[in-house]
Amino acid sequence: MNRERDYVLGTHDEELARLGLQHRVWRPVVLDCWKKAGITVGSRVLDVGAGPGYAAVDLAEIVGSTGEVVALERSSKFVRATEEACRARSLTNVKIHELDLMTDDLPKQDYDFSWCRWVVSFVSDPSLLIKKLAGVLQKGSVAIFHEYGHYETWHFLPRLTNQERFREHVIQTWRQSGGEPDGAAGLPALLSANGFAIRSATPHIFCVGPGDYMWQWPATFIEIYLPRLIEMGRIDQKFADKVRADLTSAEKNPNALMITPLVLEIVAEKL
Ligand SMILES: C[S@@+](CC[C@H](N)C(=O)[O-])C[C@H]1O[C@@H](n2cnc3c(N)ncnc32)[C@H](O)[C@@H]1O
Repeated sequence: MNRERDYVLGTHDEELARLGLQHRVWRPVVLDCWKKAGITVGSRVLDVGAGPGYAAVDLAEIVGSTGEVVALERSSKFVRATEEACRARSLTNVKIHELDLMTDDLPKQDYDFSWCRWVVSFVSDPSLLIKKLAGVLQKGSVAIFHEYGHYETWHFLPRLTNQERFREHVIQTWRQSGGEPDGAAGLPALLSANGFAIRSATPHIFCVGPGDYMWQWPATFIEIYLPRLIEMGRIDQKFADKVRADLTSAEKNPNALMITPLVLEIVAEKL
């Protein structure tokens, strides 16, 4: 199996950069969530499906030298990016494991928290992931998730028919690759079945204009995923051009609005 190729969003340089922008856009929400959940100096945090390590680096700086971040990721390219980011910041409190969450064992350690963002949507068996997580988290540990709860909330006002067709292709290709876009939808049942109590569940949905930084998050996703859909043979260049043209016209309209895909924040305690 090719661990880079088999991931539906890809692990190319543009995706690595997109994940960086996505992290920066979401950083204020994420920092607030981590603070409320109790992550602080000395905390030990498991980062599940860490990507190129943008969150891992922020976590490492927060928990400091008395704390630790254990980052799990399947893509060797993303693992190397995380190693480089840690070296550049002289961070010595991040342990990185290149592994597959579905087929490998998760490293056992005394974690206080786990952090899992936009990963449940992409694994073939979310129930296995939560079972494994339950197996390595101790009583009182807190599991934090940011996952899509209702991807179809994503649309523009005035509505853009081609963007909505694009969104449907996104949903279908994620399902075809074995994932489920609304990864958060199954979490309450899975967490209950694996001995977690949900402490809070918070929807994050935004209505933004072209001048808002948040706009860049879905807009760059469109730009990156159109060539991917062409590569997969799902759409042609003509349709891609129409989606781009619609986005460009919305960006020129100062009154255009975009409702973002709903992300559900779930904070649960291991009993
Ligand atoms: C959308 S990215 C999110 C990355 C990171 N959590 C973030 O918020 O920036 C999903 C990540 O999950 C990883 N991933 C998907 N399936 C995986 C698996 N079975 N085992 C390990 N990592 C996986 C991908 O390689 C990718 O880095």
